[in-house]
Amino acid sequence: MQSAFVEAFGRTPVAIGRAPGRVNLIGDHTDYAEGFCLPMPLVHVIEVAVAPAQSFQAMSLTNGEMQSFDPSGLPRGNWTDYIAGSLAELSKLGIEVPPVDVLVRSDVPQGAGVSSSAALEVATIRAALELAGVTLDDVAVAQAAQRAENLYCGMQCGILDQMASAVGRQGEALLLDCRTNRGELIHVPSVFRFAVVHCGQERRLVEGAYNERRRSVEAAAGLLGVRALRDASAAMAESLVDPLLRMRARHVVGENERVLAAVGAMKNSQAERFGTLMVESHRSLAQDFEVSTEALDRLVDSALEAGAYGARLTGAGFGGCIVALLPACDTSKWWSRVAARNPSAWCVQI
Ligand code: GLA
Repeated sequence: MQSAFVEAFGRTPVAIGRAPGRVNLIGDHTDYAEGFCLPMPLVHVIEVAVAPAQSFQAMSLTNGEMQSFDPSGLPRGNWTDYIAGSLAELSKLGIEVPPVDVLVRSDVPQGAGVSSSAALEVATIRAALELAGVTLDDVAVAQAAQRAENLYCGMQCGILDQMASAVGRQGEALLLDCRTNRGELIHVPSVFRFAVVHCGQERRLVEGAYNERRRSVEAAAGLLGVRALRDASAAMAESLVDPLLRMRARHVVGENERVLAAVGAMKNSQAERFGTLMVESHRSLAQDFEVSTEALDRLVDSALEAGAYGARLTGAGFGGCIVALLPACDTSKWWSRVAARNPSAWCVQI
């Protein structure tokens, strides 16, 4: 990273921030209903190196692009928005970051549903804090990163991705309570081996469809007279007259219950039980929340047929990745069976 920065900008960086992508093991589309999720950081990280400069510009080692940006100006509609939005949020906290040259190195797959944008935001904030000589706790870093995405980038996401990236620890799952923003690290027993597989289909139309799902979930909570669907029971969800809102609410209420049950299964090393909950989660995301695709469904089915205990789409849906829980088996045999039936799928991490 040091030498790449020297090559790009002719001097050494002053600060470097790092943050991982994440896989969500279970608990999707629950965070903005103040519910529960169970993410785990990936080994893939984004690194952001910075040094003071005359103006703001950023280079990506992924595509070799050099772009100028302005945290006090309008979004540019490209990847620098995550950087600009993050710096703008620090400035609102009174942490002024001077114009900087920024170099981004990423091995987090983009548009895959494994939070490359949250990793870029968190890594940017960490680099900027180091440059400014200021410390913020990890939850405050995650909150600033989420505001960057909500306010600057226009994606009305919850806090799952930013918390997983900022607060999560390698090799451990994180039970996240999105009402209190408290996270409990959960030890992952050695019998739990997860694979993250991309279905080969880029996520599409995510922003509009995502924001629409969020509005439905909030509308359902409003009709039920609760602060968020976190507070609704299954019977309350079934009482909704509007069939679409009923389906959306059914997913959220059931998914919250599944996360807590899955944590119990993990703590007791019950991989098969955990896998069953993953399958139920996928069905609910596909049928009631309608965020799956044919490619994701096919990949989940193949993962199960090849012997996985469980498999489900992970993240927002609409393409991207699934996560599968594998028995203690020959993983390369499992993967070759899955790949044979899904020629455009690729393995992100086992
Ligand atoms: C995206 C959002 C998260 C979360 C997931 C679905 O990753 O950024 O806040 O809502 O979708 O669980």
